[in-house]
Amino acid sequence: MMSQSNPIQLCRELSLQVEQEDSIKPEDLRIKYLGKNGLFKKLSALIKEVPADQKKLFGQKLNQLKNKIEEKINDLENQRQTDQAKIDLTLPGKKRPVGHLHPISQAIEEISQIFEKIGFNRVRYPEVDFDYYVFEALNMPKDHPARDEWETFFVDTQPSEKLGKMVLTTHTSNGQIHEMERLNAQPPIRMINVSRTYRRQSDATHTQMFHQFEGLVIDKGINIQHLKGTLDYFAESFYGPGTKSRIRPFHFRFTEPSFEVDFSCHICGGTGKNCHFCKSGWHEVGGAGMVHPNVLRMGGIDPDIYTGFAFGWGVERTYTLKKGLNIDDIRLFYSSNVEFLEQF
Ligand code: PHE
Repeated sequence: MMSQSNPIQLCRELSLQVEQEDSIKPEDLRIKYLGKNGLFKKLSALIKEVPADQKKLFGQKLNQLKNKIEEKINDLENQRQTDQAKIDLTLPGKKRPVGHLHPISQAIEEISQIFEKIGFNRVRYPEVDFDYYVFEALNMPKDHPARDEWETFFVDTQPSEKLGKMVLTTHTSNGQIHEMERLNAQPPIRMINVSRTYRRQSDATHTQMFHQFEGLVIDKGINIQHLKGTLDYFAESFYGPGTKSRIRPFHFRFTEPSFEVDFSCHICGGTGKNCHFCKSGWHEVGGAGMVHPNVLRMGGIDPDIYTGFAFGWGVERTYTLKKGLNIDDIRLFYSSNVEFLEQF
């Protein structure tokens, strides 16, 4: 209450205030005005300050105010009852928007499960790692020109004497050496390593951050047929029956021989005839090969006893080749555009 006004004026002000009390529950209105510490009680106490000739008038005003408050409480109660009567319990409930996993997380889950089914063990190794794991132990000695292909981001920290500089991982192949170390260089090894990777690149088919999944199998007698069989199995599981895989000679420092891996196009069925999607019948997805003896040695494994294969592909690239996904700009995945993301 405004103490500058005289008590009779205050009665008028409070009465106006009561009229406007529309968004309060009736029981709260009663407490606010008529409760033990309510505004009405406080106002009534001011009778002491009212000059004797005006006390009667003040008393009348107080009575009017009290009636007004009771009326308002009644009004609010009535209003509540009619509002409740209006509720139609047969109406369907309001649907709240429910989110879902990001499409890339969905793809990672699907890919991992396909490999887990045939005994691969899912792991995840650091995204910020030492030069040793990303390059050196993968048969890329310091200053080797092959390192230039990787468009590396370096981390501005004190390099480790043994393991060299810190980098943002350019590929998930760093996981190969980590996995050999984790298993104390004791095959069999069947790893699927899924992680974020980073390269200095950005256009419609490349983002600076993307994901890769890396397969590594090491045991006695592992050969290219095992690799090819695994690729065929993945092609059919992920893209659907009839999808074929193809390997073409390539070069990586950490595999020998090395290959590029293609999958047949689901639109033209691998023929390439009048197909605008693939042009040649095939889509390239990534690299693979037989683990280089030097890499096995770096992981403490004897290449005269054990052999292995490895592959590493981009999750985004692998995923966008799926049937029915017509995504021509992978940057959309990381645009936070809900309309785009809701489609998956
Ligand atoms: N790390 C390679 C790349 O990022 C792919 C690869 C993985 C090749 C494993 C051979 C073996 O391009």
